[in-house]
Amino acid sequence: MIQTVFDILSIRKDFPILNRKVNGYPLVYLDNAATSQTPKKVIDTIVDYYSNYNANIHRGVHSLSQEATDVYEQARQKIQRHFNAARPQEIIFTSGTTHGINLVANGFTSLLEKGDEIIVSALEHHSNIVPWQMLCERTGAVLKVIPMNLEGQLVMGEYHKLLSQRTKLVFCNHVSNALGTINPIEEIIAAAHKVGAAVLIDGAQAAPHIKADVQKLDVDFYVVSAHKMCGPTGVGMLYGKEEWLNKLPPYQGGGEMIAEVTFEKTTYAELPHKFEAGTPNICGGIAFGAALDYMNAIGFDAIAQYEQELLEYATQELLAIDGLKIYGDTKEKTAVISFNIEGLHPYDIGSILDKLGVAVRTGHHCAQPIMDFYKIPGTVRASFSFYNTKEEVDILVSSVRRAKTMLL
Ligand code: ALA
Repeated sequence: MIQTVFDILSIRKDFPILNRKVNGYPLVYLDNAATSQTPKKVIDTIVDYYSNYNANIHRGVHSLSQEATDVYEQARQKIQRHFNAARPQEIIFTSGTTHGINLVANGFTSLLEKGDEIIVSALEHHSNIVPWQMLCERTGAVLKVIPMNLEGQLVMGEYHKLLSQRTKLVFCNHVSNALGTINPIEEIIAAAHKVGAAVLIDGAQAAPHIKADVQKLDVDFYVVSAHKMCGPTGVGMLYGKEEWLNKLPPYQGGGEMIAEVTFEKTTYAELPHKFEAGTPNICGGIAFGAALDYMNAIGFDAIAQYEQELLEYATQELLAIDGLKIYGDTKEKTAVISFNIEGLHPYDIGSILDKLGVAVRTGHHCAQPIMDFYKIPGTVRASFSFYNTKEEVDILVSSVRRAKTMLL
C-alpha cells in the first residue's frame, strides 16, 4: 500500500508536460534518470528572466546587469545551502556533471606522476571512466577498478585492498545510473582519505533523491546536473573544497576568469570565477536555484519515502511477470528498475512501451562495463520520480505484459 505523503495530484498539476499524450495514450514518463520534467515554477523563472532582466553578469554598471548578477549569485548561495558547502566560492557553475568531472580530471594533470594510481568503481557511467582514462594517458597514472558483484554492489573488501600510498584519486558515483545502487560513499571517502587520496563523487543520480551534505561527507569534489532535479539542461555544479580548487589550474581561459591580462602574463581571478570563463548559462543557473526551491518545498525526506514505496510496488509487480529479471538486486537503491525478459531484446520492449505512451530508456545506459559484467547488450530501465503514481506503475506492468505477448 503506497502512503501518499504529499498531495500527488496537486504536484502533478505543477508539471504541464504530464498532461500530454504520446501515440494517443496519456504520457507515462519513466525516464527520469535520463532527465526529469520541469515544474511550472521553473519554467516561469526562465520566462521571467528573458522577459524582464536578461543581461550579462559581473560586467555591467547598468541596472539590468546588476539585477541579473544578484539573482545569479543568489542561486549560487541556494546551491551552497542545499549541499551545505562551507562557502559560496566552493560552488562552481558548470554545464553539467560531465563538465565538472572533466574540469577536475584536467586539473589533476599537473598534480599526478607516472605510477600514481587512480581508483574508479565498476558501476560508473562513461562520463566517470573516460576522463580518468584520458588523465592516465596524459600522466602515466594507472587506473584500478573496484569490482562489483551480481547484486550490483561494489565489493568493498577489494576496494580496501586496492588502496595504497600510490592512490592519489578515487572516483565513484553516489548512485549508479544503470542499476540505482546507492554506493557506500561515506566508507569510500573515509578510506581514501586515510591514504591521502582525494575523492570525487558523481552525484548526478543521487541529487534528485538524496540531499547530500558535502561537509558531513567530507568529500573533496561532488558534481551534479540541474536537469535531473527539475531544472533546465546545460547547467550543473561542481562542489570543491576551497583548498583543492585553489590547487587546480583553470580549465578554460577566457573572459571573467582573469585578474589581469597582458601579452606577457595573465593572473587568474579568485574562486569561483577562476573556473567560470566566458558568459555562463545565466538563466540556467537562476532556474537551477528555482528547481532546488521547488524540491525543497516538497521535502527530500517525503520524496525519498514516496519513491521507495513506488519502487517496492513496481519491483513486486514486475517480478510477477514470467521470465522477467531485474539487475541490481540490492536493498540500498533509488527508484530505478533495470530489467530484461528472457528471449527478448530490450530495444523491442522499449519500442512497444513507447507505442503505448510509456517512456523508458533502453540500451547500455552509457555504462557498458556493467552490461559486459552481466553479459547482456543492455536493459530496459524504468526510473521513477516523486510525480509518478501507483497507477502509472500499473500501466508500465500491463504494457510490459502486452509487449511480451506481442513479441514472444
Ligand atoms: N546519464 C543519463 C542516463 O542515465 C543520461 O540516462
